[in-house]
Amino acid sequence: MLTLTGKRILLIIGGGVAAYKSLLLIRELQRMGASVRCVLTAAGAEFVTPLSVGALSGDKVYQQLFDLTAEAEMGHIELSRSADLLVVAPATADLMAKMANGLAGDLASTLLLATDTPVMIAPSMNVRMWEHPATQQNLRTLRARGIQTVGPDEGDMACGEYGFGRVAEPEVIADAIARHLSGQARVATDQTLAISGPQGLRGKRIVVTSGPTHEPIDPVRYIANRSSGKQGHAIAAALAAEGAEVVLVSGPTRLDTPAGCTLHAVETAEQMLAATMGALPADAVVCAAAVADYRVGAVSENKLKKDTGTDARTLSLVENPDILKTVSRLADGRPPLVIGFAAETEQVIPHARAKRDRKGCDWILANDVSTGTGTFGGDDNQVTLVSEHGEDAWPRMTKAEVAARLAAKIAEALTA
Ligand code: C5P
Repeated sequence: MLTLTGKRILLIIGGGVAAYKSLLLIRELQRMGASVRCVLTAAGAEFVTPLSVGALSGDKVYQQLFDLTAEAEMGHIELSRSADLLVVAPATADLMAKMANGLAGDLASTLLLATDTPVMIAPSMNVRMWEHPATQQNLRTLRARGIQTVGPDEGDMACGEYGFGRVAEPEVIADAIARHLSGQARVATDQTLAISGPQGLRGKRIVVTSGPTHEPIDPVRYIANRSSGKQGHAIAAALAAEGAEVVLVSGPTRLDTPAGCTLHAVETAEQMLAATMGALPADAVVCAAAVADYRVGAVSENKLKKDTGTDARTLSLVENPDILKTVSRLADGRPPLVIGFAAETEQVIPHARAKRDRKGCDWILANDVSTGTGTFGGDDNQVTLVSEHGEDAWPRMTKAEVAARLAAKIAEALTA
């Protein structure tokens, strides 16, 4: 069962009719064991009173940026730092725009700009405001920065219209918070991925390579590696959830094909290259597969026998094609965005940077796979995005969250 025991949530209540549901959210979070401190925006205070918020949270309600008494008790920077998660619910179109643009004109927006604590938003607004390109652009920006989103839901709205824009239910928000804080965000059911309404990658075609390759030695044996395919499959799922048409070119894995993806199952590097090239043209290619660098030069037609002498014990290897490099260096029809991974065990960033130059791709997601990190086969990953703009180290998170953040970044890049 998910709990929030000992977790500290800073709840920022924005100005929308859904603010009343934040009162229920306070209760739900407390029931799950969290302590909740509340910030009420000026607009939020038009919908719920500080008295109700304070009575439920059992704490002071923070409202003003320039409040000497509050500042003396706890400075606004400290207010955000002392929380495990900042939750904005309801997150209005105005608050999202302020966050996306780095405005800091009141206490809520200042806290959100000053913090390095993770942030989750539960958007709530009229359907036209939600669908407006400005809001969708802000949403993409926020998600690309790693901000988690939950909802909005589809349904009847207080304004009499129907569509996306209803705030997610308090239990759903609380569940997303608990999953996020316990590192259990999952691809298929993760509310933070369940972005409704217009999706950032609708109309885009993206090819993802995933899993290991198996390079045959003879009809029964092969050379392989420890890749589980979890990260590549999670990326395919997140891209599909963002509305992309996803072609998943995967080596052998135990994983189900994520919803909305077309699978091209392959075994060898050569097959993977052929399937990837055959899936082009595409708007982006993400090479997450752990492709074997070498294959056996002369694959035996029959099972090699133990007693066939020393020659049978010496495998002669030839180099495999480099899919990432081939796609990145296509003279004709190179996809606008080509992304690779760099699994390193030492000097992660310098090696990743050199790899980006050598392969000619646009972005490299560098991760440390040295013993003890648990990255291979595990559910978590810590990556640094290396691009022409430099390095962006993402915090340690689940592979599903890495995927969601990458999908948001790709949406931002392809729609810029
Ligand atoms: O050179 P290295 O294998 O470390 O590079 C890793 C990146 O290159 C990954 O994105 C991987 O999918 C891609 N790659 C590839 N084809 C290869 C080898 C690696 O696409 N033959």
